[in-house]
Amino acid sequence: MDLRFLYQLLGERDPSANISHRRMPTYDEHVRFVSSNPYASWYVIYHSNKKVGSIYLSKQDEIGIFLKKGTQGKGIGTGAMALLMKKNPRSRYLANISPKNILSAKFFKKNGFVLIQHTYELMKDDKP
Ligand SMILES: CC(C)(COP(=O)(O)OP(=O)(O)OC[C@H]1O[C@@H](n2cnc3c(N)ncnc32)[C@H](O)[C@@H]1OP(=O)(O)O)[C@@H](O)C(=O)NCCC(=O)NCCS
Repeated sequence: MDLRFLYQLLGERDPSANISHRRMPTYDEHVRFVSSNPYASWYVIYHSNKKVGSIYLSKQDEIGIFLKKGTQGKGIGTGAMALLMKKNPRSRYLANISPKNILSAKFFKKNGFVLIQHTYELMKDDKP
């Protein structure tokens, strides 16, 4: 896995539009996470021989995809997702999208996904 590229990509994320990352992890935390084999599959997306993003399929059949800014809106995400599904056939796929992330929601809807739930969470900081 391309640790440096994935970390740089993580830094580009808009925290308000992201569900899984409340704060940027340190590089060491990032290395530990990637090394822990967290997903069923995880790929770096290449376009014209350049690294432009990453896509994963979680062990719960959730797809996560992120492209660098200048490369969005050119069909790369649609192509990458089709390839991921071809290489990892499942009876269904899920995507956890923040309700604030309107563009991503549009992307998944355009690719046939339908909204099934919004989940609320209460964080208890003082509990282990
Ligand atoms: C969401 C994302 C993966 C879509 O991939 P993409 O290659 O940009 O999308 P495509 O070109 O294949 O498809 C275009 C459609 O996706 C939607 N879309 C989402 N983000 C877009 C963007 N930044 N620019 C243009 N279209 C975008 C639009 O609905 C568009 O269709 P339309 O032009 O008819 O409205 C990519 O834009 C991205 O990484 N965005 C930021 C990260 C993110 O929020 N990821 C999701 C977390 S799981």
